[in-house]
Parts: sequence; C-alpha cells; structure tokens
Amino acid sequence: MAENEDLEQQEIQEELTLKKSPNDFLKAVIGQHVKVRLNSQIEYRGVLAVIDGYMNIALEETEEYVEGQLKNKFGDCFIRGNNGPLTGSHLFEGVSMERSKSALKRDVLEQKNEIGPKLVIIMVGLPARGKSCGLDVCKKLCRYLSWLGFNTVVFNVGNKRRVMGSDFEASAENTVLGLGLSEELPKLTITSENDQQLPMRTSSPSQIGGTQHDANFFDPKNDSAKKWREMLATETLEELIYWLNHGGKVGILDATNSTIERRKVLCERVAKEKQMRIIFIESICTEGPILEENIEMKLSGPDYKKMERNAAIADFKARIAMYEKVYQTLGEEEEAMDVSYIKIINIGKKVITHNIHGYIQSQCVFYLMQLNIKKRTIWITRHGESYYNLDQRIGGDPPLTDNGKKYGVALGKFLKNYYVERKSEKKCQKNKQIMEGKLARTYSSPQMTDDNFGTSGNEELINVWTSTLRRTIETVESFDEQHFAVVNIKFLNEIYAGIFENLTYNQVKERDPVEFKARADNKLNYRYPGAGGESYVDVIERLRPLIIELERMECDTIICTHNVVMRTLVVYFLGLELKEMPNLNVPLHTVYKIEPTPYGANLTKYFYDVDADNFTVIQ
Ligand code: F6P
Repeated sequence: MAENEDLEQQEIQEELTLKKSPNDFLKAVIGQHVKVRLNSQIEYRGVLAVIDGYMNIALEETEEYVEGQLKNKFGDCFIRGNNGPLTGSHLFEGVSMERSKSALKRDVLEQKNEIGPKLVIIMVGLPARGKSCGLDVCKKLCRYLSWLGFNTVVFNVGNKRRVMGSDFEASAENTVLGLGLSEELPKLTITSENDQQLPMRTSSPSQIGGTQHDANFFDPKNDSAKKWREMLATETLEELIYWLNHGGKVGILDATNSTIERRKVLCERVAKEKQMRIIFIESICTEGPILEENIEMKLSGPDYKKMERNAAIADFKARIAMYEKVYQTLGEEEEAMDVSYIKIINIGKKVITHNIHGYIQSQCVFYLMQLNIKKRTIWITRHGESYYNLDQRIGGDPPLTDNGKKYGVALGKFLKNYYVERKSEKKCQKNKQIMEGKLARTYSSPQMTDDNFGTSGNEELINVWTSTLRRTIETVESFDEQHFAVVNIKFLNEIYAGIFENLTYNQVKERDPVEFKARADNKLNYRYPGAGGESYVDVIERLRPLIIELERMECDTIICTHNVVMRTLVVYFLGLELKEMPNLNVPLHTVYKIEPTPYGANLTKYFYDVDADNFTVIQ
C-alpha cells in the first residue's frame, strides 16, 4: 500500500513538473477545480470539463471574477482558445493535487465520454413518423443515453429553419458561405433541443397564416428552397460535429434526411472526422392511428400552433406529400457503404438492424425495441421511516419505526382506493360504450399474460416491487393481496456503502475524512471502498435492465425502494441532468406518481402527513 502511495505521489510530481507531455497533464486535471485567466485579467473559476490542445475550454459550475470580485455565476461556460498550440500549465493555478485514494482510481464508467469513438445518430423518416413529435424517438433516446452517462444532445434542423426565417432566396448565397463555424463560437444555442433559449436571428419571415414555411417550401422542385434546406442540414451537422469535438459523446441530428443524396453528403462529412461513427435511425409508421396521433401533436408544435386547425392539417399533409415524392428508405445503398442503421417499424413492432457496432449502438437497438406508447402509471416511493433514518445511519438492514409502519399501512390503503376507483370508472365507461353500441359485449376466456419480469402472471393484480431489504418489505406488508402482488428484487437495494455500512455520516467523517471529502467532491462517481462498495454510476448500471423492462411493460407498477435508487429512477423518468442525481430531494413518506408520455413523463407527488394520517398533493 505504502509503495502504491509513493508511486502515486511520484506520478503527480511528474505531471506537475511537466515531464510528461502537456496533454497528459491536462488529462489529469479534467474534473478538478481550476482558474482560467484571460489576457484581460478576467478570471473564470470552475470545474474543468473539457480542454483541447488549442486551449478551447469548457468549465462547469463557473464563477466569473473581475479584479478579484465575483461578478457572475454560470452553469456551463465555453472559453474559446487563442488557436495557438498549448504552451504550458501556467493557466492552471490552484489545481488541487491532493487526491484521495478513491478519486485516483478512475473507473471506466467515469471515462465513458473520453474514451472510444463518438457517435453521430442521424434520424431518417417522413414527417409525423415519431422522430421528434408524437412518439419522439429523439428525446427518448437522448434521455436514455444521457442517463447512462453519455453526453448527448439533439440538434434539430427544424429549429434552425424556424430561427433562420424564410428570406432564403435573398440570403442563400451569403449564408451558405457566411456561417462557417470558424467565424463564431458554436451556435449550439440555435438548434440544440436541450437548450430552451433560442436567440432569434434577424430575418424577415413572411408568415403564411402562422407558419413561415408552407408546404411549397418543401417541394423538391423548389430549387432555391431545396438548396436552403440542404444548407440548414449541413450547417446543423457542423454544429453537432463541433460539439462532439468539444466534450460531446453522442449527437443526434433530427431531420427527415429522406434522400440517399442527402445521407451521402452527411456520411462524407462525418467520415472526415477521426474517431466518429455514424448510425442512421429510421422511423416508419404505417398504422393509421399512430400517424393521426403524431399529426395531432404536430399541430401544437411551433410551425402550426398559431394557425387555424383545418388549414394546419391541410398544409402539414401537403408537406408530407412533398416528402413522399422523393423519400427513399434505408437499404441497399447504405448497406453497400457498410453504414450502420436501425429501422423501427410501427413503434418497435418490427425492428431491422444493419452492421451494429459497439456498446452505444447496441444500447440504442435494445432500447428502441422496447418502445411502448400504452398509457400506464409507475409509482415510486422510498420505504417508511427506519430506525437508521432517525440518526442518519447509512445502509444496513434496519426495521421500520412506528411512523414508518404507519406510512406503509396508509400507502396500501391509498393505492387500493386509487385502483378500486379506477376500476369502477373503467367499468362504467365500458358499460356506457356497450349501451351506446360502440363496444361489443365479450365473453372471453381468461387471456394469456406476458412473461413480464417481476409480475405475478395475474393481470388483475397490480405489481409491487420492493428491494430485498427489510425496510421496503415491511412497508408493503399490509398491502391487500386481493389487489396487489408483491415481488422482491435485489436490483432495487440501496447503494452499498462498503466498509461504511451501518455508520452515521459523522462517524464516516471522523474515521476517514479523506474518503468523506472525496465523496462530497464527486458524489456521482465516488465508489464506497470495500468489497461490493458502489457509486451512483454503479447503481445506474444495475438499474439499466429494470429501466428497459419498465419501458416495455404495459401495466402499472408500484416500486418501493431507497433514497439512491429512487433518485436514479426519477432522474431517468423526468429527464433531469445526471449531476442533479446525487442531491435530488426525494423525501421519505412521499409517493411519486409517474405517467410516461410520448415525450417525457408527468409527475404528481403525494405526501403522507403522519399526524393527519392522510395524503396530500405537493409541488
Ligand atoms: O440515509 C438513508 C440512505 O438510504 C442510506 O442508506 C444511503 O447510504 C443514503 O441514503 C444515500 O444518500 P446519499 O447518497 O445522499 O448519502
């Protein structure tokens, strides 16, 4: 051990004295607190997220200091380098070289954005096929990959089109030549789906009853508009590539990309980048109701929301017809080029894949195969109060306090009432439909159920999943067997705190202040020492199959689990940023009702008041 520590010290010294190359030094300081001083003496302090050999820098949790005074705080901040090669480490004052044992052991999970090729996902498909409206494959995939820890952003060509206006004939020549990224900082703010604040560019849109671009704009014979649309797509791809070269891992280009000609241009451009792969994802919908639903959702989108409904439907259908004239599905051409692709037909009913490479691509395939738009509810709660909660003791397998037991009983009643009411509502609706002749009376034999993971096989019962720890099992102990089927799943156990299991936070701090600080400094990646010790990222990894299952299942599920697991699941369903996960407030005695939607999820929180013995909705 002593020998190892000596070695580590030696390595740090080497980095400090720059015996290694500057790049090695920089790799070692990623994730550390740094100060970046500009020639103007303005100083930016924050956590170093990205740096390249040209001193382009991205900081997180950034503070801006002018003459030593704190002037601004930013979330993320990009600092453009001077385009000159890296000259030394003088900019990195204050880089702390005191690192704990745990922080030095960087797991591969922590480096997933730094190692291996980057991925360009190019969406393909006619409008209203669920790429970015209705089912919203782009957003869902982005949410899943981000949750897995890959820096993922959607770049939407439609957003760029709307921002750029419709004065394309006049400005096409200038713009095609004049928007080079070398001129300005990345224009991520223009097209990134993840960024809500889109700065409007000046243009003179001639609005056509609410839409800047009516169906004629999409006519393949409209040469100038076509040129403009191609430019928008390649320009958006440039932004995507820029972002991948500056810390991104996966970029999703959201557009129709419906011709082989367009796809070839995109492939050729990406091929110029080292370490970047392409995968096409095509969404095809042939079933009427799905298509109608998607068209319906498009009407409330930015192109049509101000337009009279019938005019909007007519225009959108005309636009689709324009695309249909030239649309070419993925196939032999792409296969001849050896390109990877996934075709999703009718929301995952059929999935065709070609030449799938690597972990991220296979995650995409697996995830997209589970797509499901059936309405369902997922309830998530922590266990009732345990004896360890009283003195902030971590891990272990403690029993519930009296208040904790009371919560369990009340929760069982609350959920039973909810489902009894719902069943009777459904029955009423069905009877009404039968009376009105809209539904035939059926005398069906019992239906075969799916072999769903974690279900009883009885469709009448609601599934309740707990961990295998005593405090969750006790919480659901009183649930009525007539309505609920309980299964215990080890995946749902609390984060395992290794050698610190059963200690209070204060005891951990006293016994090992270095480890305590290492966790506080990087809670997401910090892995508890000792056999089986876990980090938040480890918990995400073990919950991955469960998320896939929850995406696939069409029935309601109630999950009774623990603090970290609940944080992890909530971040996934609500599409929150990973960095929020370790400190997300998920209080005891509060049950979250999550209703997945095609584009995300709706959340309602019910808080249990022990004294009043009732549940109330909270914000
Ligand atoms: O305190 C309850 C608990 O579930 C512990 O068992 C667990 O270690 C802890 O919460 C996790 O919270 P945090 O990651 O904030 O320490």
